[in-house]
Amino acid sequence: MKVRKAVIPAAGLGTRMLPATKTVPKEMLPLVDKPVIQYIIEEAVNAGIEDILIITNRSKSAMDDYFDYYPELETRLNQAGKDKELSEVRRAADLANIFYVRQKETKGLGHAISRARRFVGDEPFAVLLGDDIMRSDKPVIGQLIEAAEKYDASAVGVQTVATEAISKYSSVKVSPLEERVFSVSDMNEKPTPAEMFSNYAILGRYVLTPDIFDILDRQTPGYGGEIQLTDALRTLCLQKPMVAVDFEGRRYDTGNLRGFLEATIDFSLEHPETGAWLREFLKNKSHTL
Ligand code: UTP
Repeated sequence: MKVRKAVIPAAGLGTRMLPATKTVPKEMLPLVDKPVIQYIIEEAVNAGIEDILIITNRSKSAMDDYFDYYPELETRLNQAGKDKELSEVRRAADLANIFYVRQKETKGLGHAISRARRFVGDEPFAVLLGDDIMRSDKPVIGQLIEAAEKYDASAVGVQTVATEAISKYSSVKVSPLEERVFSVSDMNEKPTPAEMFSNYAILGRYVLTPDIFDILDRQTPGYGGEIQLTDALRTLCLQKPMVAVDFEGRRYDTGNLRGFLEATIDFSLEHPETGAWLREFLKNKSHTL
């Protein structure tokens, strides 16, 4: 098994980030100096992926514009000798081969993934949710690809979450294979603490085999009336090998305000242009809190 392609579902309505996301896609909100989606594309590229499909919708064309060339702007930056800005603007457009397809109706994450069938063909592929950002030494999707290739299996990225929080996620039933890698035999979406299989929750990264497409085509609406990826993954793990990777790294859900602010602060503290200044600013501020 060799994973060469990635799919980024980014067609959700982003209702938790309104009113900003009424006209600006949540994937285009700036995290320090780059839009959220760029961090996700960079993670995929750093894991060796070259072809990336973004699932969009009619209100998200700012994403395709961002990854395109912008000759007027580039000429102006060139004339003004703004080499650093010019190379950043160009770099974004040259990161990867990026393809787009629209999810014409917002019918859920599983439905969004099913739009990728033609792009993916008969190969395993990576999935990175468009609002989940990972901070890690080794790309999180790379950690999953490694395990998927080793076990010739699909893979889900997991971490433990508190029992009170499990109802926001999908819980997986696991048995250990090696350090940080488990075999998955069952899962459920947004379980109550009584229903959950374990504290391991699926967090925004997957490697899927193309078997998922036939399953998604047959999938009936689940939680919230949407075609849920977890329901299809459950069928997949009952039929074919699936592993869970307890990945090394910190995950930020930038699709909600707190996650977005946590990421903004942590990334700003690490950024060479803002880190030292922000540390000072926060120290001074803390006296007044
Ligand atoms: P979320 O539930 O986090 O995104 O979906 P959302 O629907 O935009 O969020 P809120 O609740 O309205 O704020 C998880 C992922 O699935 C994608 C989203 O873009 C996100 O990456 N998604 C969700 C789709 O692509 N299509 C859908 O129909 C639903």
